[in-house]
Amino acid sequence: MAWNSSFFIILASLYFKDLAIAKNPCKTGVSVPGMALKGFVFKKVPVTAPHVCDVTCERETICQSYNYVIGEKSCELNTRTKEARPENFQPDGLRFYMGRISGRTPLGSIPELPALSCQEIKLSEGKDSISKNYWLDPTNVGSSKLVYCDMILEADPCYHYKNLSEASRKINYSTPLGSASCDYQLPFGWYRFVGAAGTKMPTTRVPAYKCGTNWSGWLDGSHPTVEDGEVPRKVCFSGRSTGCRYSTNIFVKNCGSNFIYELKRPPGCALRYCSTD
Ligand SMILES: *[C@@H]1O[C@H](CO)[C@@H](O)[C@H](O)[C@H]1NC(C)=O
Ligand SMILES: *[C@@H]1O[C@H](CO)[C@@H](O)[C@H](O)[C@H]1NC(C)=O
Ligand SMILES: *[C@@H]1O[C@H](CO)[C@@H](O)[C@H](O)[C@H]1NC(C)=O
Repeated sequence: MAWNSSFFIILASLYFKDLAIAKNPCKTGVSVPGMALKGFVFKKVPVTAPHVCDVTCERETICQSYNYVIGEKSCELNTRTKEARPENFQPDGLRFYMGRISGRTPLGSIPELPALSCQEIKLSEGKDSISKNYWLDPTNVGSSKLVYCDMILEADPCYHYKNLSEASRKINYSTPLGSASCDYQLPFGWYRFVGAAGTKMPTTRVPAYKCGTNWSGWLDGSHPTVEDGEVPRKVCFSGRSTGCRYSTNIFVKNCGSNFIYELKRPPGCALRYCSTD
């Protein structure tokens, strides 16, 4: 009898715990419909209802988030959040994404949850992440080692940018008819112009049909000094008779020996960012 009643209490408390989680209004705040984190699933678990994934994730020390597979009624448990891996967070009509609600282990804080880079920890844990030793597995071979991460350096885009080196971005490159490129696929981020592309963006109007595109993009403003830090600037995309048929806002930074630009998808096609020596 005593066994029976305690069993009932356990069942009841489990039931009400579930109910409490399901009714928690905070819970819905982190769910992202139509999106999923790709490439970091460590376990797939069939469940009876979507909210069960919250409990399933919280039982795993390394679980950071999950994708719910709608048609299959299963949760894909992830070792990363969407913040840590923005480029792996992709549209997926068959799933929804949800961050772990509570008790998430910070990335790189235990050997079982190593990060691929210090930058990843910075992205995952946010602006407040401190400089210290973290567990890293940079080559993704399954063995962790303690590595010192300087988070001040990690926060500086001068150490984290991609290169653009196409000769066709140059201001004197005349776009052959029918071969206009656009930067519509360019992922958001910091870029430096190198090699055949030259070193920087032009700061005076570039005629249309240059730079391998139709509407040529140039910086409508001056380049900053090192002391200026990251400055907002306008990019104009020239039309046939105007210097600014389209425009977008970017950030520019002087890294001492070179400039970098935080570029985003231009407002259409064929629009492209130009470069010069
Ligand atoms: C970008 O170009 C610079 C200058 O040529 C070079 O030092 C750097 O290694 C390049 N970075 C990448 C990621 O290719
Ligand atoms: C652009 O100008 C540079 C130097 O001014 C020159 O070397 C290069 O051949 C020119 N390119 C084109 C496509 O006109
Ligand atoms: C670029 O301009 C040419 C000439 O006006 C036009 O034929 C072509 O369709 C344009 N390309 C794009 C991608 O808009």
